[in-house]
Amino acid sequence: MSTLVSLRRQERPAPRNTAFARDVHAGLSAAVKTLPAKYFYDQRGSELFEQICRLPEYYPTRTEWKILREQGPAMAGIIGPDVEVVEFGAGAAEKIRLLLNALPRPAGYLPIDISGSHLTTAVAPLMRAYPDVTMRVVAGDFTQALPLPAPLPQARARIGFFPGSTIGNFTPDEALAFLRNAAAMLRDSNGAGSGLLIGVDLVKDPAVLHAAYNDSAGVTAAFNLNLLERINRELDGDFDLDGFNHYAFYNPRQHRIEMHLVSSKAQTVTVGGHRYGFDAGESIHTENSCKYTPASFRQLAEKAGFRPAAMWTDADSLFSLHWLALPQA
Ligand code: AVJ
Repeated sequence: MSTLVSLRRQERPAPRNTAFARDVHAGLSAAVKTLPAKYFYDQRGSELFEQICRLPEYYPTRTEWKILREQGPAMAGIIGPDVEVVEFGAGAAEKIRLLLNALPRPAGYLPIDISGSHLTTAVAPLMRAYPDVTMRVVAGDFTQALPLPAPLPQARARIGFFPGSTIGNFTPDEALAFLRNAAAMLRDSNGAGSGLLIGVDLVKDPAVLHAAYNDSAGVTAAFNLNLLERINRELDGDFDLDGFNHYAFYNPRQHRIEMHLVSSKAQTVTVGGHRYGFDAGESIHTENSCKYTPASFRQLAEKAGFRPAAMWTDADSLFSLHWLALPQA
């Protein structure tokens, strides 16, 4: 039987006091302007992201999908039966199907997402498709230490699932903090057999990376610019979308794609009563998408207290999935 609980329901305070308003103000006031990538995903942004995932140039989604489909049985052999899967940032909750199909007798699914309403909609068909898997939804920010419901009594272990190379949005320091927090959340109440199955995009030919973030249909540009539209709509902003251009490039020193929005002229923008000046050519850094080698990612995971136990990749070594075992404290 499936149950549905929702913790930390989103409240709707006045725009000025939201985390979004505060983060935007802090980011636009800084000497080097930034906006957090997590705010891309409003309704429109989530739709655009789903379009990105289907673009011919954007290899990560389809490659990860293929690895999960082909190597799912091998993963299931290591993970074992009767686990409750905690997914960090579940979004459309589609890849979980591949894992639930592969796992022997999965006990539960506990997705966490900042957008509780999106998640509840996404999980409804899953509940019908997997009536024996207990599903509980948590609305919240998984980069914080979120309290999770007690583990299912019928589950042998609670494991984490973090596909999509979302970890690439964090700098290596932030990724370390995320992994430590995930380890604490998974270890919390748990017996042996816990771990984290995580998708990580790999370092590769910069030309391939460049194409993936500069698609010919302009969907990634629209995705990037939608952040300004969201600010206009939700925070009473007056960004002129024609005054900013999508700019994405590979930074080889930091092993990451950087996305920016570059002001095409000197201009002043007002958001929620605050004024921000832009020079011509000045950028807002909106996203990092860090890439790892198998070895550099294993090293990070070990530093966070995991034991990298297995890795699967595609024939072209574009993308990787790691099983990070969690030794008991
Ligand atoms: C969802 C963070 C993995 O970094 O590739 C896609 C987001 N940004 N195109 C990525 C994204 C531009 C994506 N992640």
